[in-house]
Amino acid sequence: MTARKATLTVDGNPTTLELPVHAGTIGPDVIDVQSLVGKGYFTFDPGFMSTASCESKITYIDGDKGVLLHRGYPIEQLAEKSDYLEVCYLLLYGELPTATEKQHFVRTVMRHTMVHEQLQFFYRGFRRDAHPMAIMCGVVGALSAFYHDALNITDEAHREVAAFRLIAKMPTLAAMSYKYSIGMPFMYPDNSLDYASNFLHMMFGNPCETTKVNPVLAKAMDRIFLLHADHEQNASTSAVRLTGSTGANPFACIAAGIAALWGPAHGGANEAVLDMLEEIGDESRIPEFIARAKDKNDPFRLMGFGHRVYKNFDPRAKVMKQTCDEVLSELGLENDPLLRIAKALERIATEDEYFIQKKLYPNVDFYSGIILKAIGIPKQMYTVIFATGRTIGWIAHWHEMISASYKIGRPRQLYTGAPQRDFVGIDKRG
Ligand code: CMC
Repeated sequence: MTARKATLTVDGNPTTLELPVHAGTIGPDVIDVQSLVGKGYFTFDPGFMSTASCESKITYIDGDKGVLLHRGYPIEQLAEKSDYLEVCYLLLYGELPTATEKQHFVRTVMRHTMVHEQLQFFYRGFRRDAHPMAIMCGVVGALSAFYHDALNITDEAHREVAAFRLIAKMPTLAAMSYKYSIGMPFMYPDNSLDYASNFLHMMFGNPCETTKVNPVLAKAMDRIFLLHADHEQNASTSAVRLTGSTGANPFACIAAGIAALWGPAHGGANEAVLDMLEEIGDESRIPEFIARAKDKNDPFRLMGFGHRVYKNFDPRAKVMKQTCDEVLSELGLENDPLLRIAKALERIATEDEYFIQKKLYPNVDFYSGIILKAIGIPKQMYTVIFATGRTIGWIAHWHEMISASYKIGRPRQLYTGAPQRDFVGIDKRG
């Protein structure tokens, strides 16, 4: 960090305040406002539009240029040349693994895929029609009740084993939530398979038959996990960091991330995209929905469009689109009606003045739902799959925070309520 200064003069206050300015490796400079509280001021930034909540070395995004780097590596290169578990290693440890390190990491993760047998009874307490994200909020938080042996967050070895457990068990828990909803037996993981194939095996296999996982679909699944692996200080990652800053255990922190991800403005958008495409139903109705999205008096938004940070094409959406074509061609679904609507919608929206002016481009969720639908995954599972991929990002940020010095996250407010006043007895009110 450098020692440049910004000066701030507040009307009516004769003092000019000096604030340090820090430069990152790349990206905008950051004005350090930490000393303001001592001078009697807070900053006001609802939605954290202008606030850097922490210092981090994990992920960099340039929203105007459509750039996403993990530990410096562009997402397009990682999607093409790497795989999900290798990216997990990169996010967690900061460097790409050597062949031996990778083999060891993959073996260690795959050895943790099974969950405590008692957990299946926890599932049985849920209604069969429970949303799988509701189940995930519960079961992931409950892992802290099953793995007491490694909950000391000040012990690096405990943090590492919690990371392995979470990366490894999320697909198992996700597939169990699906199997439970359709009344099928839970499938044990098959550790001879790769991470994505194992997930598809637990989703679509059954104990009575041996199923073979289609490698094209497994590659697409791996890419979906990889493209969701991390995204800097988004709402769910910030929820994980905030929860972690209280000293909560990692399973509780990840449960907080899952809850934050669920909303339609964040990870719930992939399910909402499919709902929207189904509601549109036919290409001829697209103009009607575009008009609704532009109408200030209509709360409807084009799901899968727009992003808080990207004011350009989401680089993940470009890769997702390519994967979408590969999967649909493998399955002979190139003429899928929903895909036709999606492609027409993308073309019309990206040529429309409203979307151009507001820089609303398709985001990662626009295509992931179509791929998952083609693979045969029901839409209630889409956000669960996002959560599964994002778990490594949440853990990497949690680990980064706990490994350095940190304070409990405690924002302040601009209070605009009643000033102090005396209590009025009920007989004297009104
Ligand atoms: N359709 C129509 N208008 C939109 C849309 C949209 N999808 N997104 C933003 N706008 C308009 C919005 O009405 C506002 O207009 P005005 O300036 O006239 O008031 C302007 O664009 C800026 O929108 P905002 O809500 O202030 O922007 P934000 O940065 O707070 O919100 C967003 C970002 C992602 C919540 C929003 O674009 C949105 O709701 N998109 C649809 C949901 C979605 O696809 N979410 C997935 C995000 S990517 C996955 C992830 O990382 O979680």
